[in-house]
Amino acid sequence: MSEKRRILVTGGAGFIGSHTVVQLIEAGFDVHVVDDLSNAHSHVMDAIARITGVHPGFSCFDLCDSEKTKKLFADIKPDAVIHFAAKKLVGESVQNPLMYYKTNLQSLVNVVEASLEHGCQKLVFSSSCTVYGQPDQNPVGEDAPLKKPESPYGNTKRICEEILQDTVKAHSLQVVSLRYFNPVGAHASALIGEYPLGAPSNLMPVLTQTAIGKRSGFSIFGSDYNTPDGTCIRDYIHVVDLANAHVAAIQLLLNREKSSVFLVYNIGTGSGVSVKEMVESFERINGLKLNYEYAPRRTGDVEQVWANNVLALQELGWKPHLGLDEMVASAWKWEQHLNKYEKSIHQS
Ligand code: UD1
Repeated sequence: MSEKRRILVTGGAGFIGSHTVVQLIEAGFDVHVVDDLSNAHSHVMDAIARITGVHPGFSCFDLCDSEKTKKLFADIKPDAVIHFAAKKLVGESVQNPLMYYKTNLQSLVNVVEASLEHGCQKLVFSSSCTVYGQPDQNPVGEDAPLKKPESPYGNTKRICEEILQDTVKAHSLQVVSLRYFNPVGAHASALIGEYPLGAPSNLMPVLTQTAIGKRSGFSIFGSDYNTPDGTCIRDYIHVVDLANAHVAAIQLLLNREKSSVFLVYNIGTGSGVSVKEMVESFERINGLKLNYEYAPRRTGDVEQVWANNVLALQELGWKPHLGLDEMVASAWKWEQHLNKYEKSIHQS
C-alpha cells in the first residue's frame, strides 16, 4: 500500500481549518495541525478525533516564529501545506492595522520560506472575495479587477496573494489561492463549528446567538441598497463544501508536474442571497422567530457580491452540495451544542 500523503494545516483548529482537517482525514490524508490557539479552542482537536477516529498531529505555536516554523517543516516533512493561520477580525484590523500586517504577512513569509527550504512545493492559500471590493458586475469572476479592500484585514489577503505570485516567479512553488465567499454552517455532527471569541460581527453567529438568547436582538444593516429587497446580497457557502474545495485543491496540486504555478479559484455557490432572505430562511427552517430591526448601513459593507464559480467546477472538479437550508439548520444545531458545552465547562 502506498504511504499516505502528509498535509500540514496551519490554523487547523479554527472554523474553516477544523472542517478541512476532517475532510482531509476522511479523504485518506495524514494531517498535522499547527495552531497557536489564539482564536480557537483546544477541544477542537478532540472533536476532530471524535468525528474521524483519528487524532491528527498537533503543534501549538505562533508561525511568526521563523525558527519554530522551519523546525516543524524539518520534523513533519509535509507533501503540501494549507495555510489558514491568520488574524481575521475586520474591526480589530481597522483599530490595529500594524498587528494585522505583521502577523498575517510574517506568518505567510515564514511558511513559504520553510516550505522552500524543506522541499515542500505545494501550498493552498486561504484568500477572500474581499479582494474584489464592490465588483463592477456579478457574478464576479477571478479575472475581475482587484480593488483596494476596505480593511487592513482584507488588504493582507491581497498582499499575501501578491507575495505568493512573486514567489512562484522566482522559485519552484505551486500555489492555489482559494477566494472564499461567505462561509457559514457547521459539520453535521455539531461537534465543530464557528466559535467566535468575543461578540461576533458576522451575520450567521449573530443570528444563532440571538436565537439562543446570548443577545437580545440584532440589526439588519441597510434596507435601502439597490437590491430587490433593499438589503445586501452575499454568496453564502456551507463550510463543509468549502472544506472539500481545499481537498480538491490539494489533490490538484499533488497530481501536477513540478512546474511553478499560481492558480486562483472562487469558492462560492454562484447564487446571491440577501440578508433578509437569510434571516427568513433561518426562521423558517429552524421554526424560530428572531428579534431584529433595520438600522443604517454598516461602514465598509459592499452592496452585493456573488461568485462565478465555473473555474472551480471545471478545474478543481469540485462542486457545492449543501444549500441554504442545510447552512441555517447546521449553524443552529451547532449553536445549541456549543451552549450545552459552555454550560458544562462553567459548572465543572
Ligand atoms: C465580512 C468582512 C469580510 C470578511 C468576511 C469573513 C466586512 C465589511 N467584511 O464580510 O472582509 O472576509 O466577513 O468573515 O466586515 N449583517 C447584518 N447584521 C449583522 C451582521 C451582518 O445585517 O449583525 C449583514 C452585513 O451588513 C452583510 C451581511 O450581513 O450585508 C454579511 O455580513 P458578514 O457576515 O459580516 O460578512 P461580510 O460583511 O460579507
